[in-house]
Amino acid sequence: MTRSVLSIGDLSASEIGAVLDLALESKRRSGPRGSELAGKTALLIFQKPSLRTRVSFELAVSNLGGRPLYLSPPEVGIGERESPEDVGSVAGRYCDLIVCRTFDQTVLERLAASSGVPVINALSDWEHPCQALADVLTIREHGGTSGRCLAYVGDGNNVARSLAAAAAGEGMHVRLASPAGYELDASSVEDAALRARESGGSVSTMSDPEEAVFGADVVYTDTWTSMGQELETKQRHEAFVGYQVDVNLVAKASPDAGVMHCLPAHRGEEISDEVLDGPQSIVLDQAENRLHAQQALMAWLFG
Ligand code: CP
Repeated sequence: MTRSVLSIGDLSASEIGAVLDLALESKRRSGPRGSELAGKTALLIFQKPSLRTRVSFELAVSNLGGRPLYLSPPEVGIGERESPEDVGSVAGRYCDLIVCRTFDQTVLERLAASSGVPVINALSDWEHPCQALADVLTIREHGGTSGRCLAYVGDGNNVARSLAAAAAGEGMHVRLASPAGYELDASSVEDAALRARESGGSVSTMSDPEEAVFGADVVYTDTWTSMGQELETKQRHEAFVGYQVDVNLVAKASPDAGVMHCLPAHRGEEISDEVLDGPQSIVLDQAENRLHAQQALMAWLFG
């Protein structure tokens, strides 16, 4: 069966656990890399810019013995030059895996339905599952997941959606603080809560950042204005006043709390320089873990 990972919901909590176990084992092990993608080609279709996702996927494919083939935003033209079905059915004749960053989740679904090969979501407007795998891996390394509290402060966006489900499935107590109109949708909160009920975790939503962060073990934020939302910048800046993760907010968390951000950051907006560059910041481990998590995901899919 061809397994695609278009959202965190495509992986059960125990499957995420298996992928993260593999990632930790591979990260600790020195010596030969895997061969799960030997002789295989992964097509990396990016309709948006990227540093972390593109570099980590290219390296991860190579580390597993495969060949990455990158298509940049102007080269692709999905939906303009060709339909997702035409791109998918042709790409499936050349390649063994498609990794795609796109605006629209349905593009991923259409590529998966037409290509006959696994498709991995490298970010859509709806989900960022590979980011969430790396995030939970990072939390595992920094004190563990089960029973610990994760406070997400900011936009109820794609990153929040994937993170809440992945962390809840690991038994974390997830608190989401967003201003009115920017909350994570109720259905996604319920999906995460369902995972939490099975793992012993919990999910709660609120508007007060201090309430979310109080005593938390991890404080997480993301940009207020994501790629494609630039026209909303002014209204978003007004809505998110009081939601900056700064030293005063972090002081409400557990004294050894880790601070996370998926990057790129808009310094001085959702997070202060002092916190992003400070001793509690674990954002570089988080960025590095994109490589380990995605490598493990592909090894698991093809192993
Ligand atoms: N966090 C993340 O997806 O970074 P890039 O946009 O640089 O890939």
